[in-house]
Amino acid sequence: MQLPAHIIYSEDSHSFAQPKIASVKHLDLNIRADFKTKTLHGVATYTIWQAPGATYLILDTSGLAIEQVLLNKTDPTSFYLAEEVPYLGQALHIATKPDTENISIYYHTLPGAAALQWLEPVQTAGKKHPFLFTQSQAILARTWLPCQDSPGIRFTYQAAVQVAKQFLALMSAENPQIKNESGLYYFSMQQPIPAYLMALAVGDLAFKEISQNTGIYAEPIMLETAYQEFTELPMMLAAAENLYGKYLWDRYDLLLLPPSFPFGGMENPRLTFVTPTIITGDRSLTSLIAHELAHSWSGNLVTNATWNDFWLNEGFTVYFERRIMEALYGKEYADMLKVLGYQDLQQTLQEIGSQQPDTHLKLNLKDRDPDEGLNEIAYEKGNYFLLKIEEVVGRDQFDAFIRDYFKTFAFQSMNTENFLIYLNQTLLRLDNSFADQINPQAWIYAPGIPADAPVLVSEKFISVDQQIVNWRTGTLPADLTTAHWSTQEWLYFLNGISSNISLDKLAALDTAFHFTNTNNAEIAALWFKISIPLSYAAIHENLEKFLVRVGRRKFVLPLYQALLQKNPDWAKSIYVKARRNYHAVTTSSLDNLLFS
Ligand code: BES
Ligand code: ZN
Repeated sequence: MQLPAHIIYSEDSHSFAQPKIASVKHLDLNIRADFKTKTLHGVATYTIWQAPGATYLILDTSGLAIEQVLLNKTDPTSFYLAEEVPYLGQALHIATKPDTENISIYYHTLPGAAALQWLEPVQTAGKKHPFLFTQSQAILARTWLPCQDSPGIRFTYQAAVQVAKQFLALMSAENPQIKNESGLYYFSMQQPIPAYLMALAVGDLAFKEISQNTGIYAEPIMLETAYQEFTELPMMLAAAENLYGKYLWDRYDLLLLPPSFPFGGMENPRLTFVTPTIITGDRSLTSLIAHELAHSWSGNLVTNATWNDFWLNEGFTVYFERRIMEALYGKEYADMLKVLGYQDLQQTLQEIGSQQPDTHLKLNLKDRDPDEGLNEIAYEKGNYFLLKIEEVVGRDQFDAFIRDYFKTFAFQSMNTENFLIYLNQTLLRLDNSFADQINPQAWIYAPGIPADAPVLVSEKFISVDQQIVNWRTGTLPADLTTAHWSTQEWLYFLNGISSNISLDKLAALDTAFHFTNTNNAEIAALWFKISIPLSYAAIHENLEKFLVRVGRRKFVLPLYQALLQKNPDWAKSIYVKARRNYHAVTTSSLDNLLFS
């Protein structure tokens, strides 16, 4: 049977939806955010497609209270929530009729809704108003709205969100720029997106334009700082379009979140959500913005069909991110990012074991929480595979391939197998030695890194390497040549000196370079990670403050892991204080670590 154009079917073990029987095409969401009870209340009305003879529609839910379901706005219908399945929640079965065009689900969220973080005023920058944000990727959209929560199913949406009048509401959609007296805001997303890109934030927020089609939302007291850090956004957007084709989402804005945001960034369409921990005052961590922007092509236009194909989202995005940074700041800068990424990859391979199936690009996450299986492999091995292709076919031919790929599959989902078919039929046709030279099968379906992987070199790091040698052979910190080092050079230096370092030498470095007191969260997190195993007491106060304030999982998880090795009681006592500041994405990883 011919499926409608909006679904390209891939079996997705993380969704109960049966899109071949009935699937959603458009959502009209009408909700109210109640900060007193920390609840979203509302109605989700879906326009649906049904196969001939279909009698039901299945949606994903997790911890939602379903009050009532109406067909075609007026006719009550029967529905039931199936038994709860670990990680996945409960399928919502709704009886439909042949003439059913739309389905309205009246519902509210329950306190455990994992996508939502309801912040108290003290957890915000302004300290006066509470704040709400969502994080839907990978499978948490279903915890705040009933939906077909599979990345292979796309729908357009419009929404009306009612909040109290001190707040502005924002979504991954066409957004308001100023508050209004009614507190009622309207949104529209006219391009079809998968459910994991549904997003909502509510807070005391203000907007500042950067260019005609870019800008930044933040709490008023953070707005100017954020604006200064991110003013290069229009240049990034221009570089991205120049590389891989027109930006198809109209506006591109950023929303600066409070520090509990569990990720560095999230590519919510038209409105990237971003952590404040990349604000350093010197714009040295903005590659993260380039990354989220790049997802406007890899991920949001061409979307991984299932979470097993996650590398198609992240590997392409890391590659694209570094091309944007190269266009703006030159090859030397991009090469530093590549080498740091390579170091992260080596570390991840060591942690999970370089022969493990989880190091394949194509994953098998069936019966697991996708959130626990998605790691650096997709990002850095994915990127590395693309660097291999670039090396073999040359940059010009690779760029043309990527442009065509985004254009051909725009607003569709892609799985690894179909990507390989497309690669074979296009790029690898150009020269019959390409396939053997690249060997895609080895990258995708085998563990570890192929032996003929490209060698990555950074000119800038060659001189850092010299300083690492000097340091190891006894040069005093004050006599090292470190003037004008960027954040990346410091990170590389710290990676280089971290093994077998003595407490005395660590303290001497701190005296010279003041790592313990740095405002650069990336450097601070690495410094703490190196210092914990040595029981370096001078970090204690700042480490604890950091862990209580920052909820970004990439930072806090390794710190708790290190603390557990050295001082489990202390790790647990900090966690008891810090836990209420963390989003569920972070607590679910940390609860596993600290309470098991
Ligand atoms: N889409 C991801 C974040 C994500 C991945 C959320 C999987 C949930 C499940 C985002 O684009 C991302 O990769 N963020 C990174 C930053 C990036 C520069 C590597 C992060 O948050 O650290
Ligand atoms: Zn990403």
